[in-house]
Amino acid sequence: MSPTCRILAIETSCDETSAAVVENGTVVRSNVVSSQVQVHRQYGGVVPEIASRKHVESITWIIEEALRQAGVGRSELSAVAVTQGPGLVGSLIVGLVAAKTVAAALDIPLIGVHHIAGHIYANRLVRELEYPLVALVVSGGHTELVHVPEPGVFRILGQTRDDAAGEAFDKVARALGLPYPGGPHIDRLAAEADVPVPLPRYWLESATYVFRSRGLKSAVLALINQAKMKGDVVNRAGVARGFQEAVIEVLVGKTLRAARETGARQVVLAGGVAANRGLRERLAAGCREEGFPLVVPPAEYCTDNAAMIAAAAYLKWEKKSFSPLDIKAEPVMKLEAW
Ligand SMILES: Nc1ncnc2c1ncn2[C@@H]1O[C@H](COP(=O)(O)OP(=O)(O)OP(=O)(O)O)[C@@H](O)[C@H]1O
Ligand SMILES: [Mg+2]
Repeated sequence: MSPTCRILAIETSCDETSAAVVENGTVVRSNVVSSQVQVHRQYGGVVPEIASRKHVESITWIIEEALRQAGVGRSELSAVAVTQGPGLVGSLIVGLVAAKTVAAALDIPLIGVHHIAGHIYANRLVRELEYPLVALVVSGGHTELVHVPEPGVFRILGQTRDDAAGEAFDKVARALGLPYPGGPHIDRLAAEADVPVPLPRYWLESATYVFRSRGLKSAVLALINQAKMKGDVVNRAGVARGFQEAVIEVLVGKTLRAARETGARQVVLAGGVAANRGLRERLAAGCREEGFPLVVPPAEYCTDNAAMIAAAAYLKWEKKSFSPLDIKAEPVMKLEAW
């Protein structure tokens, strides 16, 4: 039996500072996440300069806490993995400097990881993956359908032309007077509505895997403004449910078509919006009807965390595909070439 591979992973691409220790790409020994959301909430979104500064303040104790919770000594680490991109450049640099320092001090390999590869491989923490698979990635910065023909190989089938799903949830939430980040609040409100307020479906180029969300967002804003002008009370729960259902129907429809067309043996869900209960239920129902096994990570592995970065890094560990110590933060990074 090969010796245990223990990867220390670091994630600082946006506003979560996280470190984790994961064994053999699947066994999470620790996954410490410190969210800055309380700090950014007053601005209604992430302020990059503040985010980097907060990462600098937390990164050392987060790494120490991850090692402590895992009960793993420094000498027992096999490699250190880090999110190289995409993300906020100042935030990424903090994680990279920390990871390079650990790699150099302990003389262990450094593994640079694509953030979205991490979101997709969060699913490996749940179950063995079967290929080819189709991943629906829905997060704060991405709406993407990804074909994964074999481990660690990514082909983007289609993506959003404007706002990502998470961004759309956050903007609509803001219009409804809900706090940032709005996704979880829309999710909660939608569940309270008996009937959805009808809203259009944006099947942009329905034969493609292209997404677009601004039309739907504008329709929601128009509805809210009309109600306000007439002095009517906005049916917030109904709007939340109508918006959520309109988003979900398009996401699920295109995902199922991608699964059929690529002969997928599994469908996996990834990214912060994957925590949405409506999306999980509808995708599960669609996959059940069409016979595609579905893998969905638990909520704590959907939003940014370092355990998912370790899970993706393990693929590179197996291939001995290590990164030199002079890798740079890549705010824009291609998933295919990760
Ligand atoms: N239950 C939910 N329903 C809908 N959206 C949600 C839910 N929970 C979280 N979100 C949304 O998920 C997003 C955050 O996800 P994530 O942390 O993966 O994004 P990110 O890391 O900022 O972006 P990216 O991964 O693209 O760089 C936010 O927009 C948030 O509103
Ligand atoms: Mg993310």
